[in-house]
Amino acid sequence: MRQYCSHITKEKVGKNVELFGWVSKRRDHGGIIFIDLRDFSGLVQLVFSPDNQEIFTKAESIRSEYVIHVEGLISERSAETVNNELSSGMVEIEVNKLMILNKAETPPFKINDENVNEDQRLEYRYLDMRSNKMQNNMRFRSNLIRCIREYFYSENFIDVETPVLTKTTPEGARDYLVPSRINQNQFYALPQSPQLFKQTLMIGGIDKYFQIAKCFRDEDLRSDRQPEFTQLDVELSFVHEDDIKNLIERLFKKIFKDTLNITKDITFSTMTYSNAMLNYGSDKPDLRNPLILHDVKDIMQDCGLDVFMKHANHDDSRIVAMRMPNGTSNLSRKDIDTLTDKVKDLGAKGLAYMKVEDIGNIENGITSPIKKFLQNDVIKAILDKVDAQDGDIIFFSADVAQIVNTSMSFLMGELAKKFNLLSNEWKLLWITDYPLFEKDSDGNPTPMHHPFTSPVNNNDLESKDIFSIASRAYDLILNGNEIGGGSIRIHSKDIQERIFKLLNIDDDEINSKFGFFLKALDFGCPPHGGIAFGIDRLVMLLLNEESIRETIAFPKTQSASCLMTNAPSHVDDQQLDELSLSAKKPK
Ligand code: AMO
Ligand code: AMP
Repeated sequence: MRQYCSHITKEKVGKNVELFGWVSKRRDHGGIIFIDLRDFSGLVQLVFSPDNQEIFTKAESIRSEYVIHVEGLISERSAETVNNELSSGMVEIEVNKLMILNKAETPPFKINDENVNEDQRLEYRYLDMRSNKMQNNMRFRSNLIRCIREYFYSENFIDVETPVLTKTTPEGARDYLVPSRINQNQFYALPQSPQLFKQTLMIGGIDKYFQIAKCFRDEDLRSDRQPEFTQLDVELSFVHEDDIKNLIERLFKKIFKDTLNITKDITFSTMTYSNAMLNYGSDKPDLRNPLILHDVKDIMQDCGLDVFMKHANHDDSRIVAMRMPNGTSNLSRKDIDTLTDKVKDLGAKGLAYMKVEDIGNIENGITSPIKKFLQNDVIKAILDKVDAQDGDIIFFSADVAQIVNTSMSFLMGELAKKFNLLSNEWKLLWITDYPLFEKDSDGNPTPMHHPFTSPVNNNDLESKDIFSIASRAYDLILNGNEIGGGSIRIHSKDIQERIFKLLNIDDDEINSKFGFFLKALDFGCPPHGGIAFGIDRLVMLLLNEESIRETIAFPKTQSASCLMTNAPSHVDDQQLDELSLSAKKPK
């Protein structure tokens, strides 16, 4: 009977076994040939003795990655040849039947070699996938998806597929366009998410929907972003925020149990967007990190240092202090210079700091390049504000809020990494009370999430300053990474139109892009809300991988290409002709 390599243990000694797999290694030892046979489960050692000359000669011709089929007797290894690193390490197979199913070229790298460069791994993904790591990652991902499906089916959700050839669904990225041959000069857009379809399903009376959906976004790629990725997409009718949070919290308890066997209680905290920005300078704080920002704008009003006072009296600016315990002994001058260069790369003008050697002695126990500008009462107020202790370094940043937030949240992350400050926990955090709009680079309003998010109070659309209108959006953060986001939606046509107007989208564009949806809203749309999670990103975090590419069978590189298939590629003129398109010279 066929078995898997690593399942052959000592208890099976004396039995016959049939195995299929790849040759991991062949060794010739004084007239005996050993082969490590590999399948997804691991390795087992095969032994070929010259007693059976026909099989032995065949075995001599075998090279790495040949595909073979063997039958043989499971026998116990002698004590000195036991390999404790393998679950099959107590046994070996005395082969009495061998078939070479396929030969293989010499592979460009050894399977399971951890030092192969990523481009080569991606070009030969089918070889890379034979490694323990990729086998584990692919199986983990499959288990996660099984767990998600089981959960939603048990909660009476139905799985509905939505189109991939569709119209634009704005999620803040560029669309991927697909030209239509039948309707010349017209284009489909690949969905950035199934957002409008899932809302339309609610209008269609599907009151609990989920889907494992492919999404496509033409945006700048990073280690946690791919141009095509997979979402767990969820939508429900007649719900409030708490119903959705409760549903998702139960899902995550099951995910941690089913995929990582973590049964101890997984806890969720909640933080408002404004508190997250205030204390962490980020809307995805990592609560494993004990470092925190303190606003010191008030203290700096007349502090004596120009670069600080300039920002202390400016509405769009902030000044923060951040205390790094034991910084005086752990951080050298060179470390501080390196950190200063890094925050400068993010737009900061500098990174002022203060060393607290003896908190009771401001004259001699506090040192800082900016000390000469500061009055003693300002220094005292700073020390009180951050609750300073001897040994601390206090870092400062003064600038427009966005630069302070970006550079200081980066700094907190760097210090946590460098000094191992992150606690060993899973920290799940809901961020709530987002503004409905933020400013784009020209100062114009753009949706903080997407334009279908409901305001907390519809009347605010008329009465309030546009940037202070609160929304009913929420994100879920896992260890400092945004894994999902959603909202209660707008279900009235008037409000939806009003939002488009506030976004300065003209009537023609509203009609051409969203006319179908506005029409649907007019036919009895139930109140509804939902959420979507990035599955690839979630797998990456659960597996503690650095890059999302380790979780995807055939990912794209940072420059959005597939090194195995060489996509994207030029197409021939005839294909372009059929579409009435011609290729322009690249910009
Ligand atoms: P959002 O745009 O926040 O919301 O996306 C939801 C989640 O999808 C993941 N994600 C990505 N993963 C990999 N590569 C990308 N390029 C990428 N972009 C996003 C993130 C993110 O949290 N329709 C709304 C959801 C809703 O309102 O229900 C949406 O798509 O983990
Ligand atoms: P300077 O007077 O420019 O030499 O700056 C004195 C100290 O303040 C240096 O340590 C700078 O890195 C720091 N610094 C300058 N500008 C800022 C700023 N906007 N925020 C924080 N620190 C700053």
